[in-house]
Amino acid sequence: MAARRSLPLLVALLFASASLSHTDAASLAEADVLLRFKRMITDPNGKLGNWVAGEKPCGDGKGKGKWDGVICSDGNLHGLQLENMGLSGMLNVSVGVLRELPDLRTLSFRDNQFSGPMPDVKNLAGLRSIYLSNNKLSGEIPEDAFQGMGSLKKVDLSHNDFSGPIPTSLARVLKLLQLRLDDNNFSGAIPDLRQKELQLLNVSHNELEGKIPDGLKNVKEAFFDGLISSLSLSLSKPCLL
Ligand SMILES: *[C@@H]1O[C@H](CO)[C@@H](O)[C@H](O)[C@H]1NC(C)=O
Ligand SMILES: *[C@@H]1O[C@H](CO)[C@@H](O)[C@H](O)[C@H]1NC(C)=O
Ligand SMILES: *[C@@H]1O[C@H](CO)[C@@H](O)[C@H](O)[C@H]1NC(C)=O
Repeated sequence: MAARRSLPLLVALLFASASLSHTDAASLAEADVLLRFKRMITDPNGKLGNWVAGEKPCGDGKGKGKWDGVICSDGNLHGLQLENMGLSGMLNVSVGVLRELPDLRTLSFRDNQFSGPMPDVKNLAGLRSIYLSNNKLSGEIPEDAFQGMGSLKKVDLSHNDFSGPIPTSLARVLKLLQLRLDDNNFSGAIPDLRQKELQLLNVSHNELEGKIPDGLKNVKEAFFDGLISSLSLSLSKPCLL
């Protein structure tokens, strides 16, 4: 009788310990991903010194991440905020490994020395925000760079050396709230972004030309400073031109 009763308890305990060790295993797998990322970048000032093998990036699961620049909530790794750390390296090479972080929602590498072309972020499908401003990223961004990014709301690529057309896949990022592309070398026309939620668009200080698309007339904060040539003044906010 006693044995029969304790069987469900035993099963429950087995399940509990199995899920606990899965959490530990998942944390160590996350640590492994981040350490591989760290090995692919350059950290001349040792800002990522507390990223150490065998430890959990989110610590004991309460509050913020244990490792510098790692954002966690309830033990889940949600973001990397590696800002103004003097980091360098080719982001197109290193960002690929972050695909193995399923809960990643935000990436900020702003104010560093990262170089190379735009990293392939569309594989990080759960991202809500990407901040790459103030680096040395360059080259053309593929047309489909933001394809299928259904959660993406904030994109900041400002103050880099990007050139070529603004990728039209941005027009299909349905939840887009903020887009900063200012102070680059983008050329060609501004895509017709018709997202209703779009609040901030900054394309100032580029080599863009042509008409400001109708879809942008309702954007609360729109900056087109320095737009060259056949600029149409049909916009309702001439003060911002
Ligand atoms: C990263 O960009 C460089 C320069 O364009 C290129 O040579 C290299 O193949 C790229 N690597 C990856 C993994 O995309
Ligand atoms: C827009 O871009 C210009 C040029 O980079 C910058 O000076 C300005 O602060 C930006 N404003 C906003 C609100 O993004
Ligand atoms: C900006 O792009 C144009 C082509 O659109 C090119 O001729 C020019 O050299 C580029 N300038 C810089 C500073 O990269």
